[in-house]
Amino acid sequence: MSSKNKKTSFICQACGYSTVKWLGRCPDCGGWSSFQEEIINKSTSKSFSEVSKLLPIGNIEVKEGNRFSTGITELDRVLGGGIVDGSLIIVGGEPGIGKSTLLLQAANTCGNDVGTVLYVSGEESREQIKLRANRLGSLSSNLYILSETDLNVIIEAINKLSPKILIVDSIQTIYHPDLTSPPGTVSQIRDCTYELMKIAKSSGLVIFLVGHVTKQGIIAGPKLLEHMVDTVLYFEENSQQPYRILRSVKNRFGSTNELGIFEMTSEGLKEVLNPSEVFLSERTSDFPGTVVFPTMEGTRPLLVEIQALTGYSTYAQPRRSVNGIDLNRLFLVLAVLEKRIGLRFGNIDVYINVVGGMRVDDPAADLAIACAICSSFWDRTVSSQSVVFGEIGLTGEIRNVLHSDRRLSEVYKMGFHRCVLPEKNHLNTVKENYGTMILSGVRSLEEALRVILGVEKLNS
Ligand SMILES: Nc1ncnc2c1ncn2[C@@H]1O[C@H](COP(=O)(O)OP(=O)(O)OP(=O)(O)O)[C@@H](O)[C@H]1O
Ligand SMILES: [Mg+2]
Repeated sequence: MSSKNKKTSFICQACGYSTVKWLGRCPDCGGWSSFQEEIINKSTSKSFSEVSKLLPIGNIEVKEGNRFSTGITELDRVLGGGIVDGSLIIVGGEPGIGKSTLLLQAANTCGNDVGTVLYVSGEESREQIKLRANRLGSLSSNLYILSETDLNVIIEAINKLSPKILIVDSIQTIYHPDLTSPPGTVSQIRDCTYELMKIAKSSGLVIFLVGHVTKQGIIAGPKLLEHMVDTVLYFEENSQQPYRILRSVKNRFGSTNELGIFEMTSEGLKEVLNPSEVFLSERTSDFPGTVVFPTMEGTRPLLVEIQALTGYSTYAQPRRSVNGIDLNRLFLVLAVLEKRIGLRFGNIDVYINVVGGMRVDDPAADLAIACAICSSFWDRTVSSQSVVFGEIGLTGEIRNVLHSDRRLSEVYKMGFHRCVLPEKNHLNTVKENYGTMILSGVRSLEEALRVILGVEKLNS
């Protein structure tokens, strides 16, 4: 390499900001000590060599069926109903969460049903991957393994094998030999992804990239990486339980609200197709302070248990503690209960917990939170066969919420006998058939509490 071509830049490893001098603090993202000197090789600067054909949009032909299933329902759901040809998907997650496991299982099902799959690992040897594959039963004859970190060798393997799917585990370990900066640096990640993206877009190859995450929980490397790919998935743990949640934060081909739930077992990740059952499995019914609530995760209804505990405070300032809901939501519900129902929480501690480590950001949870608090406050149980949802307005009215049909179908499917819901939602759903399930439409918080807790005199 001639020295003329060598130019160095200091690049922020957190956001990709580039400067000619070292800086202690990145002016762009505010990160400290994040600059690293990298050699920018001019000869590797990229440009699209051929101008793609210019066409009016109506003349572009799209082949039918360019979306296919991975064979794993939960993964398909998060991808927006399957994989689109030529897409570049990044899967990020904490160390040991199960990224390699998930992709090796997907590689197996796709190898069996779709075509050749090339699994490239820069982190593990072929033998280690084989050991895992034996455990998972991922032994499809169409699955090829390559333990390699050199991008050119990987591209050569792609040309030789012409796979349908390429899996790169992980993008931080792959290096472009034309660049002198070490693997994992911003320029390496960016250029390797760019090369792979060109292959994906021109040949229809589907590429899954595994991405490490930083301490802050975002995918390591520049934000640009997330802009380049079509889909960004995050694999998360559900508070020390064996459940793993796959979430999409960007998807050019589908909704980003979808969620896939898996359970980690010794035979690999098992899909949890009926999560409501899991979240309600350890329910201690007939105790004051617990209410079942049908939340929505994307387009999927999910029954969760909301618990509340109230008691006289021994602190100068009573405690308000939440787990799984926004603290401001609790403040709002308490304020409405004080003003509209006349309850006094001035010297009462209030704790709220959403069981199973779920996080509920759904405004329809308001009524369930209020019922759980009152149930504990008055020491009256909410029937274990009842489910509650509705948004509370500041005047104490119960406002209608979205997706009431889907919520009700899930409640009916799970065998509950009664559902208390906003009146407007109730009127809109009269045409649906929910068997013998009793639907009680309510207009105000007061009415709701009377119906659910059977209390005559509310402000005691
Ligand atoms: N025999 C086993 N029984 C049960 N679970 C296991 C077994 N072996 C591995 N696991 C689970 O698989 C996880 C490791 O999965 P995997 O290697 O796919 O994670 P990863 O996200 O690829 O991690 P890394 O970031 O280190 O590559 C372990 O944390 C553990 O939960
Ligand atoms: Mg791994």
